[in-house]
Amino acid sequence: MKALFLAGGKGTRLRPLTDHLPKPMVPVMGRPLLERSIEELQDCDVNEVVFSTCYRADDIQKYFSLNREQGPRIQYVCEDMPLGTGGAIKNCADYFDDTFLIFNSDIVSNLDLKDLIRFHKAKHADVTIAATRVPNPSSYGVIEYDEFGFATSFTEKPKPGEEKSDYINAGIYVFEPKILDLIPSKRVVSIEKEIFPALLKNGYKIAVYRGGSYWIDIGTPEKYVRVHADIFSGLCRVPENNFMTNHVFAGGKAEIHGTAKIIGPVWFGENVRIGANVTIGPNVVVGSGFQSGRGCVVSNSILWNDVSIGSGVSIDKSVITAGCHIGSGIQCANTIYSQESKRHLVI
Ligand code: GDD
Ligand code: MG
Repeated sequence: MKALFLAGGKGTRLRPLTDHLPKPMVPVMGRPLLERSIEELQDCDVNEVVFSTCYRADDIQKYFSLNREQGPRIQYVCEDMPLGTGGAIKNCADYFDDTFLIFNSDIVSNLDLKDLIRFHKAKHADVTIAATRVPNPSSYGVIEYDEFGFATSFTEKPKPGEEKSDYINAGIYVFEPKILDLIPSKRVVSIEKEIFPALLKNGYKIAVYRGGSYWIDIGTPEKYVRVHADIFSGLCRVPENNFMTNHVFAGGKAEIHGTAKIIGPVWFGENVRIGANVTIGPNVVVGSGFQSGRGCVVSNSILWNDVSIGSGVSIDKSVITAGCHIGSGIQCANTIYSQESKRHLVI
């Protein structure tokens, strides 16, 4: 089976985390979200993935060409200009001649993909859409469905109070290839606003799959922080570690001073150097190449790769992006630090 990842969005709402990085490459527990997502395909016989890229396409291609020895074969289809979700799918049509999967690239979920595919086949659907329940459906594509589990309406981002259902499009689909013929080519098309309603109007069967206990889209910095809190609390599982039972995950070659205190849960990347009388944790992600001076306190925060901090620094409820240096004595709380901008974050 093949899968398509829609990975061309600009990630505007996630700024400044996406100032230097396309949204699918934002690290979740130290590794790009897109890399984690394709690893989840192992169980359902996906042997080829297509990345539909646009914004910072080279960053995606470069990372995977340098960092992947195994897993599905990766094809890249880069747009000169953003074609929208439907246009992006159409642009990749040549790769698909059998039932295939489509994913938005900003989703973390524990949906059972094998069960989703089984459901799609059992329903003899033309498209199956995974749906999830959220407290604020108006920020998403709202789906109504009938008693047989088939969609009856789609409303993309309705006004608050005008939602007809609290089930929303989870950004994961199973498609039959014949649907590709129905998407116009060489122009911007929204799969959600244009194609799904048109399919319903023309009698195509869109099944709605409700499954999985965890789902989040990392569309904003607040949700980026929340997914890490959920991983640390055990609500969301990542394969390499269960933070409920094993509170400190350590990458290789750590140099941790004997007087430093690590309070789990903490996730460490590789080659971290932690100075005297430093306290790290709880709920901290320390990216690879981290270096600290003496007497720092870091809690409830996500530090990307190659962050360095001086002595006497305190960091709480913050995200520090790659390569930042925090000078001695600085205190940061509820803040996103990136090389250029420093923004307030309410967590
Ligand atoms: N190649 C390409 N080209 N990809 C695109 C483009 C484009 O022009 N525009 C968006 N994408 C990709 C994004 O990178 C993302 O992975 C996916 O398509 C969806 O775009 P978002 O910008 O994240 O959409 P959204 O979050 O507002 O809404 C979508 O996701 C919700 C679930 O999180 C919709 O599908 C909603 O219906 C859905 O509920
Ligand atoms: Mg999104």
